Amino acid sequence: MKPTMPVGRQVAVSGIQASGNLHIGNYIGAIKQFVELQNKYNMFVFVADLHAITVPQDPEKLKAQTLDAVYTYLACGLDPKKTTIFVQSHVPQHTELSWILNTITPLGELERMTQFKDKTQGQESVLAGLLNYPTLMAADILLYNPIAVPVREDQVQHLELTRTLARKFNSRFGETFKEPKPLIQQPAQGWSASGGSGARIMGLDDPAKKMSKSASPANRIELLDSAEVIKKKVMSAVTDSGSEIKFDPANKPAISNLLAIYSQMTGRAVADIEKQYHGSSYAKFKTELAEAVVTSLAPIQEKYGKLAKNKTSVLKILKEGAKKAGKAAEATMKDVRKKIGLLES
Ligand code: TRP
Repeated sequence: MKPTMPVGRQVAVSGIQASGNLHIGNYIGAIKQFVELQNKYNMFVFVADLHAITVPQDPEKLKAQTLDAVYTYLACGLDPKKTTIFVQSHVPQHTELSWILNTITPLGELERMTQFKDKTQGQESVLAGLLNYPTLMAADILLYNPIAVPVREDQVQHLELTRTLARKFNSRFGETFKEPKPLIQQPAQGWSASGGSGARIMGLDDPAKKMSKSASPANRIELLDSAEVIKKKVMSAVTDSGSEIKFDPANKPAISNLLAIYSQMTGRAVADIEKQYHGSSYAKFKTELAEAVVTSLAPIQEKYGKLAKNKTSVLKILKEGAKKAGKAAEATMKDVRKKIGLLES
């Protein structure tokens, strides 16, 4: 008798940008939630190195950052037993399908993408890779027939295009692709199918702007910052006038942001933290917030250190991941090649 197949989980796919300087804003807003999703979905997560090269990259840095992103996600709890982790360029079916999708993508659809317009604004010479970025992203997704795609809000338009291309392909060549739904980040509550933006983590030096990898270092706490640096950054974070420690983003944006960080890093409710610091000074609150951040990052930093010393084992994880992803991707491509009439080799 054949063993009964376990009931398959639904698939979710997402690509991550290897950008370096990953900070607690990235952790709270994305990485942490990825790690939670792997308990619900059969996840495919890859480092989008081929997307990275749509803007000029230093080859050595690109390589280092690709590996660094993998170390970081593994250190934060992405588990290769639950999630298929790989590097986009290791699965050549991504580029193959992207080419095929390009042949059914109207130029106008690509030209109207907000990200394309933003990235090329004021440029004299626009590279074709930037224009075709969304068809590669559509290929990344459609290869695995996922139900869900965790993305930031700014990627939703690309996902819409992916759905359009899936429909187009299906209507021309027969039912092949599912239309995946975005799972949009809502940092306060986790992922939601409905969209909207929750409490973002803002800059320590300017609570009106998102914490950012490209701003000055005082703006953010990086995941690998030392305890000393974290303390310094938290203590010099801007605060609001008054002295109350209260979550009130409209009137107390800086303190609200610090409370959000405290809550997200410790898993404690904001109300509970407010109560604890009722009547306390900003200085006391900040000192203990810094300690909480240091404590919650310690296990991540320790794991990162171990992984970075053991590159071979990480490369093995990526090899396994590419093998598994490649199998799923090749099954899709066999079907696609046949449907569009490419002669089998
Ligand atoms: N473009 C995405 C970003 O900027 C990264 C990405 C590439 C992606 N391919 C993907 C996300 C496929 C989801 C699915 O974040």
